[in-house]
Amino acid sequence: MEEKLIIPNHVGIIMDGNGRWAVERGKTRTYGHKTAVSTLKDLCVHMVDVGVKYASLYAFSTENFKRDIKEVDFLMNLFIATFNKEFEFLKKKKVRIVFSGRREPLPEKVLKAMDKLVDETKDNKALVLNICLNYGSHAEIVDTTKKLCELYKDGKIELDDIDEELISKNLYQDLPPLDFVIRTSGELRLSNFMMYQASYAEFYFPKVYFPDFNNEEFDKAILEFNKRNRRFGGVK
Ligand code: FPP
Repeated sequence: MEEKLIIPNHVGIIMDGNGRWAVERGKTRTYGHKTAVSTLKDLCVHMVDVGVKYASLYAFSTENFKRDIKEVDFLMNLFIATFNKEFEFLKKKKVRIVFSGRREPLPEKVLKAMDKLVDETKDNKALVLNICLNYGSHAEIVDTTKKLCELYKDGKIELDDIDEELISKNLYQDLPPLDFVIRTSGELRLSNFMMYQASYAEFYFPKVYFPDFNNEEFDKAILEFNKRNRRFGGVK
């Protein structure tokens, strides 16, 4: 990539279109999810190489539990296999993994694989990979509100301590705001993904399905990001 490009500090990716990608090829939807893991692995290496510092990935929403039980089970097993084996290389790339979302009702084996990955990568500094799993913005706002109420009840904060910074610090993860949100597959929705964090993000909706969102597509996204005039509500 060209040297002078601005690399967004925090990129969010809604990895959409796995099912359609597979069905268009006469395969089962699960084949699309499996291929997505391979796309994602390449993308993680690329993001480290170009200097992205934070990346948030929408892996499974609170609403995705409404899917056919067989697809949900497949995804849970895919997460276990990916976290236990496929993501081994991320340790060498110095990627730190964190998770956002509710633990309930994720299966024990998924939670165990998540906790292990978090622990094994906690000192890494190249890229923070925030995996949103059983995640929803609405649930996050509810859970953050409860956390702040507990702090208030325990006398650890005053009402006047509640400000934007305190809310931000008490979301599932204390991360910088999103600069750039990419949703593949041409759908023009946020679908309950990091609403609070995306308030001033730039949005990009490439037509390609996620399994085809390769490094070249990511570079095209960065070029598009560089064309945006970010004003943050001011005048430039
Ligand atoms: C959306 O495509 C994708 C998902 C709900 C699952 C995302 C999962 C992965 C990319 C697997 C790997 C991720 C990790 C973190 C290991 P869709 O099924 O809604 O596609 P469709 O809109 O074409 O039906």
